[in-house]
Amino acid sequence: MTSTNPLAVSFDGVSKSFGPKQVLRDVSFQAARGQALCVLGRSGTGKSVTLKLIMALLKPDAGKIWIEEDDITALTTHEIPRVRRKIGYLFQDAALFDSLTLYENLALPLVRLTSKSQTEIDFTVDRVLGQVGLGGDKKKMPSELSGGMRKRAGLARALVLEPKILLADEPSSGLDRITAGEIDELLIQEKIERKTTLIVVTHDVHGARRVGDKFAVFDKGQLVSCGTATDVEHSENDTARKLISEH
Ligand SMILES: Nc1ncnc2c1ncn2[C@@H]1O[C@H](COP(=O)(O)OP(=O)(O)O)[C@@H](O)[C@H]1O
Ligand SMILES: [Mg+2]
Repeated sequence: MTSTNPLAVSFDGVSKSFGPKQVLRDVSFQAARGQALCVLGRSGTGKSVTLKLIMALLKPDAGKIWIEEDDITALTTHEIPRVRRKIGYLFQDAALFDSLTLYENLALPLVRLTSKSQTEIDFTVDRVLGQVGLGGDKKKMPSELSGGMRKRAGLARALVLEPKILLADEPSSGLDRITAGEIDELLIQEKIERKTTLIVVTHDVHGARRVGDKFAVFDKGQLVSCGTATDVEHSENDTARKLISEH
């Protein structure tokens, strides 16, 4: 670790069970600041649980989870919001409030969590909607948006508080190749322009290879390979090699 590229997220021997079911076993990985880490793995291998642990929505049974300089497993409930504030979370289903317009969906976290004035809020919402290509849609209700637009709107909401770390859970699932590619472009743009650390769970290896600097492959609750695409391609683990190959 160098001072120019310190860690954004680090798992150190993390395990998590739900009742008798062990979902994660002794998982360790790191994402450096400004880096894009893509998480690959079959369904049910603990990828979404990993994101929820980073958000401190779940607590591990063992191990440490560092967000920049904080071990969030050692923080009190009182201290967690300060760290969570650094993180944007694009949920699998975009998680918009259906009774609010797109503008209201984005303004809400700014009203609740910042001291921005109404003018500053309008400016920020316009900027972020413009960034994801929904500048002309702010009066629309979520039900009026297509699948691709909903994902963009979810992304806009994850970005509106200008997080240092963006977690995205299958941001392109259910989208056609072209629309998925547009979401990937937005993620790449966010990383380049704002140096945001990205942790992206995806089934789309084509997109992962465009977005990711680093790849973590989960299988049955264990991290079976982690590194560059070349590292994973040469992994001893069959599942890892299979998941990183595009055919
Ligand atoms: N809150 C929970 N309570 C009980 N089991 C859970 C909970 N969240 C996830 N699981 C289980 O953990 C496993 C991994 O889930 P998840 O991380 O969502 O998988 P995926 O890799 O598909 O995202 C699944 O078997 C799921 O049923
Ligand atoms: Mg999942």
